Amino acid sequence: MNPCAPVSACRCCGGGRLESVLDMGDMPLANDFHNGEARPRFPLHLLVCQDCWHGQLSVAVPGEALFRHYAYLSGGSRTFRDHCRQLVAAALGLVSVPGGRPAVLDIACNDGTLLSLFRDAGCDVMGVEPARNLKRYTDRLGMPVVNAFWGTDAALALGRKFDVITAQNVLAHVPDPGDFLAGCAACLNAGGVVLVEFPYSLEMVTRNEFDTVYHEHLSYFSVNSFARLVGRSPFHIADVTRLSVHGGSLRFTLRKGPGPHTPAVGDLLQDEQDAGMFRLSTYREFRERVGASRTQFRALVAGLRAVGEKMIGYGASAKGVTMLNHFDVELDYVVDDTELKQGRLIPGRTIPVVGPEVLRREPGRLNIVVLAWNWLAEIRERVRSLRGDRDNLLLYVPGVYCCDLAPREGVTA
Ligand code: TMP
Ligand code: ZN
Repeated sequence: MNPCAPVSACRCCGGGRLESVLDMGDMPLANDFHNGEARPRFPLHLLVCQDCWHGQLSVAVPGEALFRHYAYLSGGSRTFRDHCRQLVAAALGLVSVPGGRPAVLDIACNDGTLLSLFRDAGCDVMGVEPARNLKRYTDRLGMPVVNAFWGTDAALALGRKFDVITAQNVLAHVPDPGDFLAGCAACLNAGGVVLVEFPYSLEMVTRNEFDTVYHEHLSYFSVNSFARLVGRSPFHIADVTRLSVHGGSLRFTLRKGPGPHTPAVGDLLQDEQDAGMFRLSTYREFRERVGASRTQFRALVAGLRAVGEKMIGYGASAKGVTMLNHFDVELDYVVDDTELKQGRLIPGRTIPVVGPEVLRREPGRLNIVVLAWNWLAEIRERVRSLRGDRDNLLLYVPGVYCCDLAPREGVTA
């Protein structure tokens, strides 16, 4: 495979009318934490299909480079664990396995957080995950996990079927989402359901979440574009729900064959129409708002630096890494609770990632950019517990603003 295969046809509808939305130039991989050595960069350019309005990157960096070693742990956030509990309850309400234990497959099971909740609920569980480094986490939990990328080949190799298949935040990562769904169909029992979650492109566009655009995310789905993909698969959409996780996501329930869907599908399609998701000008306006945020944020950082203020980040998320590189700003350091990231440098930057203990030693007041803005409530609580109320939190999504732990005079965003 070409190290960077260019995309010429829409991943959902196969159409060829792809239009530029946001071109960030050559960027580092958002989870490529490093130790100062030279690292590769790849084009990061968001396109939109003018037929089904699916968002997609102009090139696909091979999954081998992105997902064999993965620094992101699902279990790192309490909010996400709560979300998983809710998913387990919803999934088990959708299937009936008389006299037996539901068999559950979690695709891209990461550290096993969701699988362990299914097991605790009495299910017979299995995971599939391409990242080799995450095996020690799933081993620790005693989860059976096959190390593989998902698709029809992996599905046939499993040689067994399931009542529930879950796929959280993975469909947008795959170069061939049609083959991904075909793999699900190949190992789903009669009466079974597939639950698929991914970030919602409507949220990205309307809330200026430009930093969800990074190499791992090849696709930016709407209900409209996902429906086109499902229409070419063995499934139908039975239901869809909006979720607040990851800056706004969708959960689809898929069942095999033709079948009815809930009114939620039509309601969301209408929301997309109302939000202008089916016209190019909406995407141009999104690009302009991102440009304005960049100018404003750079001015804010320069202003604080000019008066000798320290600026740090909290949460070395892939989103935050994307922002730091696209906005081209430096911070003194970034705090992250994930051990895998500590002691290394932010991709594309020379900013060190440190553990939270550093915050306890900091005198005075800090300006803390909430890089994992999707976990704002948790991070605010964490900073408060470590340092009290003396700091300023700065956000850049949906716009640039100060979120006062301790409001100060003379600094406005
Ligand atoms: P995510 O936005 O992709 O979930 O990444 C969030 C990052 O922020 C991840 O590296 C973990 C980190 N984080 C903390 O360090 N402390 C926290 O309290 C939370 C919620 C996240
Ligand atoms: Zn399309």
